[in-house]
Amino acid sequence: MYEGCHKYRPFPPIDLPGREWPGKTLQKAPTWCSVDLRDGNQALVDPMNLEEKLLFFQTLVEIGFREIEVGFPSASETEYEILRALIERDLIPDDVTVQVLVQARPHLIQKTFEAIRGAKNVIMHFYNSTSTLQRKVVFHTDMQGVVDIAVEGARLIRRLTEEEVARSGMKIRYEYSPESFSGTEMDNAVWICERVMEELGATPEKKVILNLPNTVEGSTPNCHADQIEYFCRHLKNRESAIISLHTHNDRGTAVAATELGLLAGAERVEGTIFGNGERTGNADLMVLAMNLYTQGVDPGLDFRHMNHIREVYEKCTKMKVHERHPYAGALVFTAFSGSHQDAIKKGVDFMAKSGSPYWEVPYLPIDPADVGREYEPVIRINSQSGKGGAAFIMQQNFGFTLPKAMQPEFGAIVKAACDEAGRELKPQEVFDLFDREYLQIHRPYNLKKYRLYEESHAEGEPAVVHFEGNLRFHHEDHEVNATGNGPIDAFFQALGQVGITDYRFVSYQEHAVSTGADSKAISYIELRTPHGESVFGAGLDANISMASIKGIICAINRAKKKESAGA
Ligand code: KIV
Ligand code: ZN
Repeated sequence: MYEGCHKYRPFPPIDLPGREWPGKTLQKAPTWCSVDLRDGNQALVDPMNLEEKLLFFQTLVEIGFREIEVGFPSASETEYEILRALIERDLIPDDVTVQVLVQARPHLIQKTFEAIRGAKNVIMHFYNSTSTLQRKVVFHTDMQGVVDIAVEGARLIRRLTEEEVARSGMKIRYEYSPESFSGTEMDNAVWICERVMEELGATPEKKVILNLPNTVEGSTPNCHADQIEYFCRHLKNRESAIISLHTHNDRGTAVAATELGLLAGAERVEGTIFGNGERTGNADLMVLAMNLYTQGVDPGLDFRHMNHIREVYEKCTKMKVHERHPYAGALVFTAFSGSHQDAIKKGVDFMAKSGSPYWEVPYLPIDPADVGREYEPVIRINSQSGKGGAAFIMQQNFGFTLPKAMQPEFGAIVKAACDEAGRELKPQEVFDLFDREYLQIHRPYNLKKYRLYEESHAEGEPAVVHFEGNLRFHHEDHEVNATGNGPIDAFFQALGQVGITDYRFVSYQEHAVSTGADSKAISYIELRTPHGESVFGAGLDANISMASIKGIICAINRAKKKESAGA
């Protein structure tokens, strides 16, 4: 029982017959506005200093943001100084518009106009709170009182803008936010925004940005979308407004609310990269952009250097991007589980062979290379991992393509080693296991010297291959010398001379591996033991025939080892 729930009221649904947004899809990117340096910054334990803000600003520009809210210059001297530094050091590219936030209060508006002197492109963003709750408990006023504040603010902003434009030619656009829009009666939200638009002289050529904040997220995303569609339907002069979203993440659905809000008619989005912002944060613009990207829509923002962007973010905000953060977290392209690894391995092989123009790899919604993560291990090995994982590591990191039939055997060896270590194994450790298990096994049979040559024979005649060697076992050296119709046959005949007769050849695969400057051949041999069990061996040598012979010895040695372990 969790009876406390009764003190909360459910969010009242919006009456919106024939709502259209559920049938729409996102087909183009909105205009993005980063509020990292304002909403994000005001939520930090230690707000960014000048150098951090400048670095963050430059990174936002590099990502592709063309509208950036840089702060609240009337709120503090630091904020004021930061804006002045951006302007005076000429750090704002000509195609970037800086946005400044101000409450709809005359002295703060005046101060904000002083702060923007010398800038080329500015969005003057003013707001006042309109919600039912704030009117009741904070302002003790009715809706008319709230409308009056906004209208007076708009009037002053228009006058100061006209003066500034006449003086300097600065390009100034207007943005108004009925703060706590989603907690406001929709008809009141429409009313106040229409009055502000009138006061600012909005036209289709000189649109006003109406930013409709979900200041505190209090509903499921569909209700937010209903509010946006309702607002768009009822606003007079809709064509003279740009509808902007600004969601917060109190219920953990800011990204979803933004996406549905776009379906519902909004055309601009405010938020922050990685979702920093007041309380639970703002909508994460990186996630929104990458979500569009994965639907085949160019987001107009570039996250190809995700690790660098994440580093700048962490340095400036002193916050951490979670390991599971979509697209950016350290572990989001990593599979530990066996079945996922198998499917990824098959998907990667499929992509290499098929030349498909589409990304078709199970469990990897995007190509890690698209966010600069191509050199990071997708498959990592722990005790959850299976045969496919170990095989993938051997292939991707070391160029060894284990035959399918051999993968379960090596997978079990790797799994046992993980269990024993009680931790993840690094790729080199996986290779070392392979090396120890297959390549460095020289007992009980150790082939010390060998010579292999083919007799010259007339075309069409069967080949005769000679194997001569020295096989050491039971502390003695045994000379062997035999012929066969090929190297493997000759070697089996030679083994027969020292009493090794009951192994049956099952299968053979080989390929070249480049190890540093030189190239070697690796053979994988499967034998049937005298007890009818299957056993694998591997041999690595510059000579392809010797690689197979080493593989056979390896398989026999491994069978003997198993026998004595079982005895
Ligand atoms: O969340 C909010 O309502 C805001 C406004 C000031 C736009 O940040
Ligand atoms: Zn906000």
